[in-house]
Amino acid sequence: MTGSDAVSIITTKRDGGELSDAQIDWVVDGFTRGAVADEQMSALAMAIVWRGMTRRETARWTAAMIASGQRMDFTDLPRPTVDKHSTGGVGDKITLPLAPLVAACGAAVPQLSGRGLGHTGGTLDKLESIPGWRADLATPRMREILADPKIGAVVCAAGADLAPADKRLYALRDVTGTVESIPLIASSIMSKKIAEGTGALVLDVKVGAGAFMKDLGAARELAATMVELGKDAGVRTVALLTAMDTPLGRTAGNALEVAESVEVLAGGGPADVVALTLALAREMVALAGLDVDPADVLADGRAMDYWRAMIRAQGGDPDAPLPRARHTEALRADRDGVLTRLDAMGVGIAAWRLGAGRARQGDPVQFGAGIEMHAKPGDTVAAGEPLLTLHTDTPEAIPGAVAALADSITIEEAARPGEAALILDRIGW
Ligand code: URA
Repeated sequence: MTGSDAVSIITTKRDGGELSDAQIDWVVDGFTRGAVADEQMSALAMAIVWRGMTRRETARWTAAMIASGQRMDFTDLPRPTVDKHSTGGVGDKITLPLAPLVAACGAAVPQLSGRGLGHTGGTLDKLESIPGWRADLATPRMREILADPKIGAVVCAAGADLAPADKRLYALRDVTGTVESIPLIASSIMSKKIAEGTGALVLDVKVGAGAFMKDLGAARELAATMVELGKDAGVRTVALLTAMDTPLGRTAGNALEVAESVEVLAGGGPADVVALTLALAREMVALAGLDVDPADVLADGRAMDYWRAMIRAQGGDPDAPLPRARHTEALRADRDGVLTRLDAMGVGIAAWRLGAGRARQGDPVQFGAGIEMHAKPGDTVAAGEPLLTLHTDTPEAIPGAVAALADSITIEEAARPGEAALILDRIGW
């Protein structure tokens, strides 16, 4: 095929046609090597946004992105491998307690993770707030940690050779308005997770105001597509659809979320974080074929022992004080009543503006920045009482954060009927 074939691939998809396996392999490979130009791939991505892809096309697209780099293989490890991926939410620190908990249950957790961009935080940014902790590990060291029965969990940065086609394509989609496509999102996520070499995978697909997917129907379709892609690639995959209308837990921000995760590992922590950690752990342990109740492993302190070992294995000091922001400011309730809404997107944007997130890849983050939530939806509040504490090293960021929160808080006279569910659906086997 030649450069002019890129045009026929674009026009085929533009006109609603189906791409052949050979066309998909060629265009993904050509894009990775630079033979297909960015503007051609942008046009094709936009055609896919509008026309979609069939199940066969999506599976082939995913396989081509995996084939653009190395696929890791952990089948020789003495323990089953299982990982979790979240589509991203505000205050979503679940990986931190979950990875050591599942390792303590007897599985190996090989998690290749990313840094945050925009309003959702990145797991690596959170862990990097622990003094000494390093995200970059060579594969032999990763394998050593996974095989160690007293550690068993690794959270590290994906190397450049893990699905490089996705890295290039995601950067292009980000600046061409072509992120919002179920086949493109599903193939992007699953190509990385399959290439990472996990034997089983639990997906936490977020739904609601603070998530990519605002409605349950679209989230179900994304989840089902990813579960099918996992099945096609021999990775046992289950998806939980979980609520992301309000932030998870009571903190959003890197070091603040580490501290909250350690509370969960110590047997405390917010009820929603504990419930979601245990729900995902149960799915992971079942997929790994282990007969252990993660609640027992959390309660008896074994998960905390694994956390400490996991942090030390990557150079971190689990006992070192965490960074704190230089300035704090309280945002107070303006009336008596019940907090009925605390919008995840507003809190995420405010935390980001305070310095917890980055606007561009490669920007630094402030480890101590973020938001502490003293009240969550359903809580009774009194006028003048602090609802939120804003943390930042750059106090000039506070007005922007307050503006992002302006329409994010609702206080009403009485609670709204019915408790909002955290786990909305499950897709898989
Ligand atoms: N996360 C990814 O890795 N890819 C997408 O396309 C969207 C979210």
